[in-house]
Amino acid sequence: MSVFRKKNVEHMIAGAQSAGLKKALGALDLTFLGVGAIIGTGIFVLTGTGAVQAGPALMISFLIAAIACGFAALAYAEFASTIPVAGSIYTYSYATLGELAAWIIGWDLMLEYGLATSAVSVGWSGYLQSLLEGFGIALPVALTAAPGALPGHLTLFNLPAFLVMMAITTLLSVGVRESTRVNNLMVAIKVIVVLLVIAVGVFHVTPANWHPFMPNGWRGVFGAAAVMFFAFIGFDSVSSAAEEVKDPKRDLPVGIIASLAVCAVLYVAVAGVVTGIVPSAKFAHISHPVSYALQAAGQNWVAGLIDLGAVLGMLTVILVMAYGQTRVIFAMSRDGLLPAALSRVHPRFATPFLTTWLCGLFFGLIGALVPLDVLAELINIGTLAAFSMVSIAVLILRRTHPELPRAFRCPGVPVVPVLAVASCLFLMVNLAGVTWIAFVAWVTLGIAIYFGYSRRRSKLAHGVQPH
Ligand code: ALA
Repeated sequence: MSVFRKKNVEHMIAGAQSAGLKKALGALDLTFLGVGAIIGTGIFVLTGTGAVQAGPALMISFLIAAIACGFAALAYAEFASTIPVAGSIYTYSYATLGELAAWIIGWDLMLEYGLATSAVSVGWSGYLQSLLEGFGIALPVALTAAPGALPGHLTLFNLPAFLVMMAITTLLSVGVRESTRVNNLMVAIKVIVVLLVIAVGVFHVTPANWHPFMPNGWRGVFGAAAVMFFAFIGFDSVSSAAEEVKDPKRDLPVGIIASLAVCAVLYVAVAGVVTGIVPSAKFAHISHPVSYALQAAGQNWVAGLIDLGAVLGMLTVILVMAYGQTRVIFAMSRDGLLPAALSRVHPRFATPFLTTWLCGLFFGLIGALVPLDVLAELINIGTLAAFSMVSIAVLILRRTHPELPRAFRCPGVPVVPVLAVASCLFLMVNLAGVTWIAFVAWVTLGIAIYFGYSRRRSKLAHGVQPH
C-alpha cells in the first residue's frame, strides 16, 4: 500500500546534518522564536471577542486552551527531540504514519501557518491604525480593511496588512540570522508591553466587574477557549526550525515548553486585568481591546505604548509563521510531493527564496481581502487537527521505534497523548459549523492533489530515501 510508505527515521536524522541550512539557533533563540510566534493577534485583538463570549471567565478559557496545548506540546517536544529535521510535524508523521497522513498534515500546516500570517497582518493593521489615529493620521477608509469587514463602510483592500507582509517577506528572504536578531528585539518589547498592561492595569481593577463571572455559562467559556486557542498557536513553529538549531536534542524541548508556559501565565493575567477594568460586554466590536481597557482606566500614555508594542510585537508573529510556512513547503518539495523549484536554496542568502516570496504574496493578498474572524476559526481547526495527529503519532513511534534515542520523553504515555487528542477534539467540536465545512473542503482538495500529483512524484515512490 503505497500511501503508507514511510521514511527511514535513521536516514532522516543523518540527512539533517547535510541539508545546507545554516545552524545558528540556540535554546534562548528558540524560546524567543516561540514567544515571538505566540503573543500576537490572539491576546491583543481576539481577547475582546473572548471577553464578550466568556465574560471574566475568559481566564478559565485561556487555561483550558493552555492545558490542551500543554499536552500537545509534550508530544511535540518528544518528536522534535527525536527527529530534528525541517518541516515540523509533517516530517515526523512521514516517518510514523506514512506518506498520505504526512501529506494531509503538511497540507493542514500550510493552512495553519499561511492563514496565520494573513490573520496577524490584519490584527497588526488594526493596531497600526489606532496608533496613527493617536497622531491624527487617518488612512482612506477604502484601504483600511477587507471588503465587507466594516459594516456600513465601503472597504476594498487592507493596505497596511498587505504592506507589512511584503516587509516581512523581504526580511525572511535574505536570511534567518538577520531575521532572528530583529525578532529577539521585538519579542523583548512585546513582553515588556504585556507586563506593563498587567502592572499598571491591576491598580484599576474594580472587582465588581468580575461579577457575573460566567455570563454565558460553560458554553461561553468553552466557545471562547476554542477561539482563544489561536492565541497559543506558534509554539509548534519552534520545532520547524529544527535543522537550523545548534543542539536540537537539548534546545528544542526547552524552547517549546518554556515559550508556552511564559505565554499562559501572561494571558491569564491580562484576561483578569482587562475584564476587571471594563465590563466584559463593552468589548464588542473593539479592534484594540487591550489598549482600550487602559484608555478606559484613564491611562492614555500606557494605551499609546501598548499600541506601539503591539505593532512591533505582531511583526514577529508574522515573521515566525511565515518562516514555519516556508520550511514546511521546503520539506514537502524536497520529498517530491510538491514541485522541486519550491525547495531551491538561494546561493547567497541560504534561504528558500522563491517559496518565501510566493507565500508572502499569496497570503498577503488573503490578509488584504478576507476579514479576521473568518481567518481565525479556520486556522484553529487546521491546527487542532494537526495536533491530534501528532499526539497519535508519538504513540505509534514509541511502538515502531522504541530504540531511538529520545533527548526528551513525553511523560505519562499513553495518558498524556490521549488527553492531548481528547482536548484538541473537544475544542474542535466547539468551533462553528461553517468552519468545519471549509476545513473538510480544504482536506478534500489536498487529498485530490495527493492522488493526482504527489503520489507519483514522491521521491520514496522512486526508491529514493529523501532526508
Ligand atoms: N498566537 C498567535 C497570535 O495570537 C498566532 O497572533
